Amino acid sequence: MEIIRVKNAEEGGKKAFEIIQSGIENGATVLGLATGSTPETLYKEMRESDIDFSGMVSINLDEYLGLGGNDAQSYRHFMNTQLFDTKPFKETFVPNGKAENPEAECKHYDEIIDAHPIDIQILGIGTNGHIGFNEPGAPLDGGTAVVDLTESTIESNKRYFDKVEDVPTKAISMGIGSILKGKKMVLMAYGENKADAIQAMINGAVTTHVPASALQNHSDVVVIIDDAAGSKL
Ligand code: GLP
Repeated sequence: MEIIRVKNAEEGGKKAFEIIQSGIENGATVLGLATGSTPETLYKEMRESDIDFSGMVSINLDEYLGLGGNDAQSYRHFMNTQLFDTKPFKETFVPNGKAENPEAECKHYDEIIDAHPIDIQILGIGTNGHIGFNEPGAPLDGGTAVVDLTESTIESNKRYFDKVEDVPTKAISMGIGSILKGKKMVLMAYGENKADAIQAMINGAVTTHVPASALQNHSDVVVIIDDAAGSKL
């Protein structure tokens, strides 16, 4: 893993943007995108750039089960407002949280990923080491699946909802196996509350207890962290 230390999230967003920019110059056409507060500075760089993304495809990691694009807390809504409304892509994929048959939606999503191999996968990390919504215990080689969110994830993400009871308890998430199919991984983490997860991801064993540790098995991973997130390395 290549580790890039940055001063703050603003500088991290610029670094990640540079990686995307040079990837596009070298032929990247499919971006794997993430939600959460971490990639917001990257999306700001993308919005303010003069890059035309209209020939590109994006594939998002996950979506809350039960939420659709009109729900303000959905990841589809987040992506539209953070990026796609300003910078249209040719096609943007986010799992359909309102799918009548979520299992079929998962299978369909893996077909989408196989049809559009991801060139650059953007990732954040949960405080418990999750990537996408692959919580501890998730298989390290799994495909897209309906997953249960842990108490700690619900607790972390409740800030986006009026009350904790409103946070969905399930999601559709690309599996760790689906994520690792991407050619290049760019994981960003800022703040002290990510320090344990970053330490376990980089220096710990590859284990289902720390889903992000599976990145040790990928040959092209860039980790962008500030000093606080890297304080336990
Ligand atoms: C959510 C998302 C993850 C994200 C994580 C961290 O649970 N499913 O993709 O990495 O939260 O979020 P934040 O960047 O807000 O800390």
